[in-house]
Amino acid sequence: MKNWVKVSLAVFAVPVISLAGLAGWVSVSVNQRLSKTYDIQPVSFKADIKGNPKLGEHIVTIRNGCIDCHGKGLGGATVMDNGAMGKVYAPNLTPAALKDWTDGEIARAIRHGVGRKGQPLVIMPAEEYIHFSQTDLAHVIAYLRSLPEVSKPNEPTKLGPVASVLLATDRAPLLIAEKLNHSQPFSAEQKPEASAAYGEYIAKTACMGCHQSSLKGGPIAVGPPDWPPASDLTQTGLGTWKEADFVQAMRSGVRPDGSKIKPPMPIKLTAQYSDLEIKALWLYLQTLKS
Ligand code: HEC
Ligand code: HEC
Repeated sequence: MKNWVKVSLAVFAVPVISLAGLAGWVSVSVNQRLSKTYDIQPVSFKADIKGNPKLGEHIVTIRNGCIDCHGKGLGGATVMDNGAMGKVYAPNLTPAALKDWTDGEIARAIRHGVGRKGQPLVIMPAEEYIHFSQTDLAHVIAYLRSLPEVSKPNEPTKLGPVASVLLATDRAPLLIAEKLNHSQPFSAEQKPEASAAYGEYIAKTACMGCHQSSLKGGPIAVGPPDWPPASDLTQTGLGTWKEADFVQAMRSGVRPDGSKIKPPMPIKLTAQYSDLEIKALWLYLQTLKS
């Protein structure tokens, strides 16, 4: 073999070997993290907590948008499916699929982002739902149990190459259970009332996943690159907005200057919030000076 051939082969071999090494490391790291089991017990409720399916319906279909991922009728739906990111499937939540689950197991999936076998669930937004009160979580489960059965088999979730690299290099928090403080307090009840405290509760369970825990906004970590950053909802961001401006933004998706608020801001859902919920959110935002 001529020398220059040997040299170029050697030069070529280095990146090939390191790419293969990288791919191997990514797959080992991702598989380890996906197959890790979390030692979290099924959630237990105070004995006097009783769920009301009617109140659960508002939480599931409007306030916390479960249907956006799990599908209308909650029979399961594809959240994302492309070659780069892979397929993410939000499972069937009707009794056809959950009848063998205990309330505590369903509550653990919602609060902790952990499946029936203790595995971390992909993008299931438990960072918001861990703040649910016991009463609201009981309402949610009562509603799921009251749904008409949808006999549709679940499709598997499988991360694609780009999602795997993003996860392995910690650039996308796809496994929500990994970053949660699982010992957050589990309050018995949050009274629906026109107060900043109730507004903070709604913001934690329904807005902070996108607008960040400071509500200062910024890029949405698990979103596709074409999503606009979430807006700053503190006084710095909303500036001279009045309560009526906020109500109009939430109800019709139009800012005081007439511009339209773009997706993924869920205007279809916030348009159906109760007056009390919007009022409470406004009172809370007023307390966020910067
Ligand atoms: C952003 C999309 C999204 C939203 C919003 C969402 N989920 Fe999920 N959820 C998922 C995905 C995806 C999975 C499955 C992940 C996996 O298999 O790793 C899941 C799993 C679950 C599971 C476990 C079911 C099973 O068979 O493993 C339950 C229970 C659940 N979600 C309830 C809810 C409830 C209740 C809400 C609203 C309060 C909700 N989800 C909102 C995406 C979402
Ligand atoms: C799925 C992600 C997502 C969720 C959940 C979400 N938002 Fe947004 N929101 C956005 C994005 C993105 C924008 C910016 C859209 C744009 O650039 O037009 C936005 C914009 C807004 C605006 C307009 C502010 C301005 O000046 O641009 C308001 C008000 C707002 N959101 C309030 C809320 C409240 C209150 C909640 C919770 C009840 C919430 N959002 C939940 C993504 C979200």
